[in-house]
Amino acid sequence: MNQYFDKINSLKGELFLAGDKSISHRAVMFASLADGKSIIHNCSESEDVYSTIKCFQELGCQFNKNGNSILISGKGFKNFNQPKNFLDAGNSGTTTRLISGILSAQNFTSVIIGDESLSKRPMMRIVEPLNLMGANIEASENGTLPLKIFPSKELKSIEYKLKVASAQVKSALLLLALHLEIESVIIDPFNTRNHTEKMLNLKVEDTIDGKKIICSRKNYPEPFEMTIPSDISSASFFIVAALISKNSEILIKNVSLNPTRTGIIDILRQMGGKIELMNQRKEFGEEVGDIFVQSSELKNIEISKEIIPNIIDEIPILSIAGIFAEGNFEINHAEELRVKESDRIKSICSNLLKVGLDVIENKDGFMIKGNIKNNFAEFESFGDHRIAMAFAVLSMMLEKGGRVNEFDCVKISNPNFLEQIKSLHI
Ligand code: S3P
Repeated sequence: MNQYFDKINSLKGELFLAGDKSISHRAVMFASLADGKSIIHNCSESEDVYSTIKCFQELGCQFNKNGNSILISGKGFKNFNQPKNFLDAGNSGTTTRLISGILSAQNFTSVIIGDESLSKRPMMRIVEPLNLMGANIEASENGTLPLKIFPSKELKSIEYKLKVASAQVKSALLLLALHLEIESVIIDPFNTRNHTEKMLNLKVEDTIDGKKIICSRKNYPEPFEMTIPSDISSASFFIVAALISKNSEILIKNVSLNPTRTGIIDILRQMGGKIELMNQRKEFGEEVGDIFVQSSELKNIEISKEIIPNIIDEIPILSIAGIFAEGNFEINHAEELRVKESDRIKSICSNLLKVGLDVIENKDGFMIKGNIKNNFAEFESFGDHRIAMAFAVLSMMLEKGGRVNEFDCVKISNPNFLEQIKSLHI
């Protein structure tokens, strides 16, 4: 589906977004691991989280939807059913990498497959360290899906320092560690998102090498009930749209404000964005609050290497904010963008060329200079939800609007994007 967007004048109103995708994946997984019934309220409505649910249904867990809540019957320690079919992770890197840790501990063989995009993404980053723990995983010759996970001869705990800035790799190792009596220690020098640690109540120490996370069977989840706060990554598209359009004022309610995810707010504020956090509180161990945003004059700033893992999913929409800010927008040290749902450096740069901006692409980032020259443009989503939504926002800023091709991929994280943005138009 190719989607047209007209120029918007201003955005006004209140938004309630579905639950955070990262937290929802984990909630579904931990409920499935637990022995008994759990309840999740405000779960993400994304196709990605649905991929996780389908995998655990295949492993014998039951899911019953009741309005905005899901009741999950988990199977308990090493008690999953042997899957009859391949486990299809769809487009979801989080499903694949996290479930690999769990499957490595089971006494049956399983195979994980995915769509075309996921089948190109690197998997050796989990295969190598999981196999160091005694897992028995085979990837394709290219180090990609399908992953064949055989029962292990002998699993052992590990002390491991992350080589890539990836919460998915960290979580895969922690989820296998959860099945071992002896403690494993995972060191995260990059400060990647910490939902797994928080939700499993893991011990975390600050060391000069990074966060030292300790995990063992003692941390195996029990049935629980939780409400998932709204997704800050989904919110960031509306935040930027409100900042860069005139006379806008929006309030996004009950958003997850976990500090490992709020880099986007810190940067936009440093750029001059009028963003207020209200009603801040802690719920189920996670920071939550309302985000109030007003149109602002923005200035580009230097973006440090250290904050990149925190804003990795927000770089597409941050670069759109950067176009409307004074000075040049520059991002470096973001080579991880090349292995997301699309090569996001390439996707962003090639779309920006379509509005006549000067773009310098490099190995681990890009720089945007000049001014928008066209009053209409046709953008590609590259089948990547975050590229689709970022360029929807840019389309809405062009004099004659714009078009985003293959827009339906937004369902991967936010199937309700179109209705939500329409609800804010005046
Ligand atoms: C995620 C971690 C990040 C992020 C992805 C979700 C998670 O990926 O880009 O959207 O839920 O753990 P990496 O761990 O590969 O950086």
